[in-house]
Parts: sequence; structure tokens; C-alpha cells
Amino acid sequence: MTTLPQSMFATVLLHDGFTGSPTGPYIDDAGDWLAEAELPVPEPGPGQVLIKLRAASVNPSDIHFIKGEYGQPRVKGAAAGFEGCGDVVATGKGAEALQDQRVAFVTGGSGAWAEYVLAPAIMCIPLRPEISDEDGAAQIVNPLTAMAMVDIARASGNAFVLSAATSQLGKLMCSLGHDLGLKPIALVRRPETVEALKELGAAEVLVTTHPNVVQDFSQICRELKPRVFLDAVVDQLSEQVFCAMPNQARWICYGKLSAEAPTLTQSGQLIFMGKQIEGFWLTNWVTSTPPEDQARVVAEVQARFADGRWKTDISERLSLKALVPNLASELQKSGGKVIITP
Ligand SMILES: NC(=O)c1ccc[n+]([C@@H]2O[C@H](COP(=O)([O-])OP(=O)(O)OC[C@H]3O[C@@H](n4cnc5c(N)ncnc54)[C@H](OP(=O)(O)O)[C@@H]3O)[C@@H](O)[C@H]2O)c1
Repeated sequence: MTTLPQSMFATVLLHDGFTGSPTGPYIDDAGDWLAEAELPVPEPGPGQVLIKLRAASVNPSDIHFIKGEYGQPRVKGAAAGFEGCGDVVATGKGAEALQDQRVAFVTGGSGAWAEYVLAPAIMCIPLRPEISDEDGAAQIVNPLTAMAMVDIARASGNAFVLSAATSQLGKLMCSLGHDLGLKPIALVRRPETVEALKELGAAEVLVTTHPNVVQDFSQICRELKPRVFLDAVVDQLSEQVFCAMPNQARWICYGKLSAEAPTLTQSGQLIFMGKQIEGFWLTNWVTSTPPEDQARVVAEVQARFADGRWKTDISERLSLKALVPNLASELQKSGGKVIITP
């Protein structure tokens, strides 16, 4: 049995609850939201495990959360961070089977941006040895969301639209869609990313800053008839994209990368064309999907990372102690995740 220290280094939340004025997953200075702290190493309760961190990822949801604009309230002084990978060093009652396993996890009672993390056993996935710690640190939130949302798209036709397609999740969905014989229609904001997305599997790539983007998209809609729009941006262009789609189309909002509040300009789209606007949140998928279906999805995710069909692009690695001073500037880089190491 490993002897555990009494205390640990952690990056903690500076504020409680929710903000009344969300501004999106961007920060100028992490010190406005986070602080460094020495915390007691937590003890796992029933159904929980204590994990010694190997690597944690920084997702847009982490930034929404530290700013008080995510789907759960902040607790001042608690460690930040939702997702990572590490070794189970202690277990509570009922979670003994995970002792000493290397797992991907999503946190419960304490955050991932700390040397030790408490997680519910049901939110831990033992990792195949071929999967690196860095892929393990981004193994749950985006990959499960990609699997779930492409499944929704597949049920509604051969083509689907996705925004922010250069995000990690967008790239996973382009390649998965292509592998399943679907035609992903990708929206990006940087022209220099078009070729890379086509190589990943996008059937069409449109640049949102191009003046003719809506006309070009309308033409593509006439040919490919996409009926699902997986949207992480949710701005006025998204509304125009939705309006250009064929009848019965579904605008599925799953992120809020733009702070702009879009206006619905044509209510007839909903009334006469049978279109729908809805949301997707992985948390709801996890609670509503039968365990055997989730196990199948998890196995497919690991297989895709193990054989190289999927990978996590990394823009920077930061140690826990370098996180607060450097996070804001590192998040400004495009092209990959910031990965945190102990
Ligand atoms: N609902 C759910 O359950 C769920 C689960 C997982 C993820 N998500 C959401 O999925 C989205 C992607 O997550 P991720 O981890 O894959 O993100 P990521 O890898 O960190 O990438 C985000 C990318 O989005 C692009 N972007 C940022 N702001 C934009 C804007 N205003 N307009 C257009 N593109 C913009 C940027 O790409 P460029 O710099 O290349 O343009 C940025 O690199 C986030 O909104 C996240 O919250 C939701």
C-alpha cells in the first residue's frame, strides 16, 4: 500500500456560484479566476477513488466553469479541472477493483488540476496500455461526445454540418463521420485549416469569414441535404446556416464559443419547415444511456486511440506550478489542447 502525503499542491477556484454575465471560454489572466494552494489530500468515500495525477486536459468547459458560466456552481477554494488521467492509489467501499489501475477520469468532489484527485469510480475508465497518458487525459469528454453526436447525425441522413471544426472535438467528428461513410460539412474560421480538415475526412469545408459563405453553404445543402447541425459556436451565422438547411433540420447547440446572442429571424422555419433547435450535454447522455451502450462506446473510443485513428493534438504542456501564470497566453494558441502535468 502506497504511503500518501498529508497535503498536495492544487490550483483552486477563486469564486463561488455562477456569474450573471457569461463572456465565453476566454481569459486574459488565469489569476482572475484561479489561485495556487496547498490542500489536504482527500480521502475516497464509498464508490470513490483517489487518483495520483499523470496528466489533465484543459477543455473549454473548464474555462466556462472557472468563470461561473457552466452547468454547475463553483465552490471557492476547491480544485479546478474536470478531466485527466492517473493512477488509482486508494479506493472507497465498492471501488476496490480499480486499485492500482491507470485510469482516464472525470472528477466528482475535487478537481483534476491537483496532485491528487477524487473521482467517482463510475467516471473512471481503465486504460489500455497502448494509450498514452496525454491521450488518456482527453479520453472521455470529447471522444464520448463525438461518438454520441455523430450517432445522432447518422440517424438523420448521410451528411451533417459541424462548426468550430478545427476544435479537438470537431476533428474527432470529421474523421469518425468519414469512417462511417458520412459526409461532414465543416465550418472553420481560419482558411489555412481547410486542407487539413479535408484530409481528416470533411467532405466540404467552408470558411465562415468568407463573404459568400451562406450562398456557398446553401448550394452544398441542395446537393447533400444535411439535416443535423452540430454547433459549438452559436452566433448569428449559425442561425443563417440553420435557415439555409432543408426542412426537418435540427440545430443542436452543444457549446458557446461565441459570446454573441443570435436572433431567430424566421419563425416559419420552426412552424412550417418542421425544424428544431435543441441542446446536447454529455452529462445528460451519460445519465440517459444504458450502461451496456456506454461500455460499447468506451471500447470503440479506446480502440480508435489505440490504433491511431484518433489522437489528441497538443499545443502546450504546463506543470501544475506553471499553470496560473501561463494558462491565459497558452490558450490563445490554435491547434491543440493544453495538457497539465503534476
Ligand atoms: N455539450 C457537451 O457535452 C460538450 C462536450 C465536449 C465539448 N463541448 C464543447 O465543444 C466545443 C469544442 O471543444 P474542444 O475541447 O474540442 O475545443 P478546443 O479543442 O479547445 O478548440 C476550440 C476551438 O474552437 C475554435 N473557436 C474558438 N472560438 C471560436 C469562435 N468564436 N468561432 C469559431 N470557432 C471558434 C478555435 O479554433 P481555431 O483557432 O482553429 O479557429 C478553438 O481552437 C466547446 O465549445 C466545448 O465546450 C461540449
